[in-house]
Amino acid sequence: MQINVGILGLGTVGGGTLQLLQRNAKLIQRRTGCEIGVTAIVVKNLEKARPLAFDAALLSNDPDAILNDPSIHIVAELIGGVAPARDYVLRAIAAGKSVVTANKELIAKHGAEIMAAADQAGVDFRFEGSVGGGIPLIKPLRESLAGNHVRQLMGIVNGTTNFILTKMTREGRDFEEVLAQAQALGYAEADPSADVDGYDTMYKLAILAGIAFGAPVSIQDIYREGIRHVHARDIEYARELGYVIKLVALARQDPDGEIELRVHPALLPTEHPLANVNDVFNAVFIQGDAVGDVMFYGRGAGSDPTGSAVVGDIIEVARNLCRGKSGQLASEAAHPLRIKDFADVETRFCVRMQVADRPGMMAQIATVFGEKGVSIESIVQKKSDGETAEIFWMSHRTTQRAMARSLNEFNRLDAVRDVASVIRVEGE
Ligand code: HSE
Repeated sequence: MQINVGILGLGTVGGGTLQLLQRNAKLIQRRTGCEIGVTAIVVKNLEKARPLAFDAALLSNDPDAILNDPSIHIVAELIGGVAPARDYVLRAIAAGKSVVTANKELIAKHGAEIMAAADQAGVDFRFEGSVGGGIPLIKPLRESLAGNHVRQLMGIVNGTTNFILTKMTREGRDFEEVLAQAQALGYAEADPSADVDGYDTMYKLAILAGIAFGAPVSIQDIYREGIRHVHARDIEYARELGYVIKLVALARQDPDGEIELRVHPALLPTEHPLANVNDVFNAVFIQGDAVGDVMFYGRGAGSDPTGSAVVGDIIEVARNLCRGKSGQLASEAAHPLRIKDFADVETRFCVRMQVADRPGMMAQIATVFGEKGVSIESIVQKKSDGETAEIFWMSHRTTQRAMARSLNEFNRLDAVRDVASVIRVEGE
């Protein structure tokens, strides 16, 4: 039997998927037990030059060339974004086709709707490439670790921000300068917001947490902060204290079942397994009640790595089709997640501030922290210019509420010239 695949979108991931299907065709046929052929490719712009070897007759700019073609069994949706991808995916499913995608925003926002439609239609819907590029994450979480209560999941799942933070750390340069260089090198988009403001990481966390905790996670329940406010000075102080700064995605379930979901820069101890995940690499660190600690590491983006994940999904779906069955995993019985109020979430904090260098200053700040219930663990003060001193405080665990109240109070103190940054500490 030949399984026919239609590819929607021939950008970085679509191109990688097509090339891998061609390059490893014999291996894939042996492993699948049937032949897989790409029989249609739909792109937006037919005129665009493409450095790929393929039969130009397959190309069209009409999505119906795939969606309305009854000979196509599997649709690989690789255009990204919600519109028109959602519509195409739902139409493909309604037409009885299985769908494979790497579209994190689509899954994070409409995953439950699409999975229900796939269940109903009895087709497969797979999305391994949507998180961590080539790193196997969805399948291990959904299958191999299914017997575990996931206690915590913490990951570095955005290559662009990890590249920027790594460069800032190695070269002591500030965010804007490194971002401009990353853009020039093609590692960051001209509009970098999706990456540097944490949206991409938030979508990926919604997907991972949804699988880890067995229920859809709304992106509205995820606290999100990006890396624009991380300064070279913060990285330097962190290093002095034995930490590195990373943009982390974190999902944690308390013993009483409440779940916290957050994306923000965090200080990680240099000995933490995620602290040494550098450049464009991604990693996810999972703690299960039975398995203990597990870490997944690899290339989180790019043509070949993400193509590897998409092709893996296509092979799995093709195997099912060849054996005449749908491999769609039955949805779990719905059980609403209990999301913890972010104000109640406890973390340690680092606060860098500029203060007037005069007697009693430290006591005033310590009093505010004390009154709001924030306990100080350590203080680093740098040389003053005679007028202003820079102080870097590290707190013990405290709630977000207590820290927010302290920061409000500092705004009222004349002597606090500026609260330059507030960064949480994780991984201890
Ligand atoms: N913009 C993403 C990243 C690409 O930088 O990791 C993969 O989702």
